[in-house]
Amino acid sequence: MHLDFEYAIMSESLKDKIDALRQQALALQANNAADLEALRQKYLSKKGEVSQLFDLFRTFPKEEKAQWGAPLNQLKQLYETRINELREAVTAHCASSTVSLDLTRTPDPVSMGSRHPLSLVREQIIDIFSRIGFTVADGPEVEDDQHVFGMLNFAPEHPARDMQDTFFVEKEEGVQKPTDILLRTHTSSVQTRALTAWAKSGEPSLRILCPGRVFRNEAISARAHCFFHQVEGLYVAKDVSFADLRQTLLYFAKEMFGADTQIRLRPSYFPFTEPSAEMDISCDLCGGKGCAFCKGTGWVEILGCGMVDPNVLESCGIDSKVYSGYAFGMGVERIANLKYRVKDLRLFSENDLRFLQQFESC
Ligand code: DAH
Repeated sequence: MHLDFEYAIMSESLKDKIDALRQQALALQANNAADLEALRQKYLSKKGEVSQLFDLFRTFPKEEKAQWGAPLNQLKQLYETRINELREAVTAHCASSTVSLDLTRTPDPVSMGSRHPLSLVREQIIDIFSRIGFTVADGPEVEDDQHVFGMLNFAPEHPARDMQDTFFVEKEEGVQKPTDILLRTHTSSVQTRALTAWAKSGEPSLRILCPGRVFRNEAISARAHCFFHQVEGLYVAKDVSFADLRQTLLYFAKEMFGADTQIRLRPSYFPFTEPSAEMDISCDLCGGKGCAFCKGTGWVEILGCGMVDPNVLESCGIDSKVYSGYAFGMGVERIANLKYRVKDLRLFSENDLRFLQQFESC
């Protein structure tokens, strides 16, 4: 009897505890993983409050146990379900917030930026010519008159030497002229440096590509800029002919603009080449039929070229009766414009991410 009475009291207390824990379950809250772990410890761990009720239950006689098994299991399930719900809510919140407490989570991807379209085009030009033996040569952007004009056969009164066209560097503050230090107006200046060095080297041939920035005293507009980029090409050896030049440029045009591209050479004039030519490629927009882009001609101009003038070879210490060569020069912006149809030159130097990000996958 005594025992029965004791169990009656214990049963009463178990019922109260189950009811109280049921109420508590509905009010559980967790903001993060640490809160969740604390709840698990408090209720479901070996010494947890729910587990302790099971310990009590185990001391009950068999006939008493029957009525408590189901409500106790339901209580345990209630806690498991509630804590799982809270875990999902915490995970969803962490995924959407900027600060995640899950240190094992894969970090957000870092934006790597993209290559500038002019770098892409310059590298493509270098790649195409390096496949046929051209190597890259470099020269200074701040140059002297001799290397930019004099040794390239420009007459003393040539208009390019005028301050209207060329940026001169002041030797002394406030004294603008006369000075022979200037910002190079074309990468042809690298020719004269490379030729002079080659003349002393004893090498049988010189085959170089000179990419770089050039400067002209122009008002900035959609079609002109005070700085832009060029790539100069030069090949000098014995018996170099105009046919070599033509084939090299045809190869370049097909690699750059596609296998169907045609080229056309028109006679032109440059002080440093004789004969000189300008090269057009067939317009890839209309396939040569004529459209607004090619102004109805079916052709678009892409570069200047010619056979190196003997005067240039001689001024660099090379015997023009033994050696001959060809040269060509192209604007990188011009090629990029043809490839990507960029109508306004200024976009290349404004660093507008909306423009630059378009070249991410190129
Ligand atoms: N230097 C010329 C320019 O800036 C481009 C050029 C034309 C380069 C003919 C050459 C060439 O090497 O042969 O417009």
